[in-house]
Amino acid sequence: MAAPLPSGAGPRRVPSQNGRLSVEVVIVPDAKAGGALIAGAMADLLRRTPDALLGVATGSTPLPVYEALVAQVRSGSVDTSRARIAQLDEYVGLTADHPESYRSVLRREVLEPLGIGMDAFMGPDGTAEDVQAACEAYDRALTEAGGVDLQLLGIGTDGHIGFNEPCSSLVSRTRIKTLTEQTRVDNARFFDDIDQVPHHVITQGIGTILEARHLVLLATGEGKADAVAATVEGPVAAVCPASALQLHPHATVVVDEAAASKLKFADYFRRTYVNKPDWQGI
Ligand code: PGA
Repeated sequence: MAAPLPSGAGPRRVPSQNGRLSVEVVIVPDAKAGGALIAGAMADLLRRTPDALLGVATGSTPLPVYEALVAQVRSGSVDTSRARIAQLDEYVGLTADHPESYRSVLRREVLEPLGIGMDAFMGPDGTAEDVQAACEAYDRALTEAGGVDLQLLGIGTDGHIGFNEPCSSLVSRTRIKTLTEQTRVDNARFFDDIDQVPHHVITQGIGTILEARHLVLLATGEGKADAVAATVEGPVAAVCPASALQLHPHATVVVDEAAASKLKFADYFRRTYVNKPDWQGI
C-alpha cells in the first residue's frame, strides 16, 4: 500500500527554471562521469532540502548514480538521513520480497546502501487485487507527499520512460501498462528466462512524471542513441514517450558519448554546457 509520507507537503517548493526553457543535454565522457554529475545534483538538493523526495529508477543505467551518491554519504559530504524515496514503476504480480520486484531492487541498490529506512519509501503495490485503485492511490500519495523534487529516469531502447511504452498518453497518470516484447527481451537478463518477465507493470504516467520539479534522464551506450536523438531532437510525440521532457521547465538529459552519437546538435550542446555559469548547476 502506498502510504503517504510525512512532511514535504505544501507550497514551498516551486520548479527552479534557472532561466532554462528547453531540455538541457549534457554530454559526459562515460557512465561514471554521468553518475557523478547526477549524484552531485542530488547531494546539492539534499543540502538545500534535507527531506527532499527523490524519485528513483531501476535498470542498469542508474547504478553509477547510486554508487556516487553512496560514496558522498560515506565521505560525510551529504546527509541522507531525512531523504525520502519514491518508486517510478513496478512489475504486476511480483511480491514485494521477490528479488526482481522493483521494490526489492531499490531496497538493495538504493535504500540500504544510503541508510534510508522503508518508512521513508513509497511505491505502488504490484500485488494489489484492485490494481487500478492501487495506481490511483500511489498517484495521490505522491501529491500528498509534496511531489517529487528530482526524478531520475532511464530510457528504454524504444524511448520509454518509467514503463510508459510508445503511444502512451503524454498526460497519463499512474496506471497499469503492458510491456512491449522489446522491453521484456531487454529485461530478461534479470530473470532466469524470458517467460518469468511479467507482461504487466504499474508505472507513473507521463503526466505524473512531468509533475516532478526536476527531471534528470541518464542514457549510456550506443543502444540508446536513437532513443536519445528522438527524445531531444525529434517532435514531442507519444511514439517516443521520453520526448515529453521537452514540455518540462527543468529537464536535464545526461548522455555518454555513445548515447550522444546520433545527436545532430551535439557540438551545440557541448558548447552550451562548457560555457554555462557555474552557479547554475544542472
Ligand atoms: P536500463 O533500462 O537502464 O537497464 O537500460 C532503462 C529503462 O528501461 O528505463
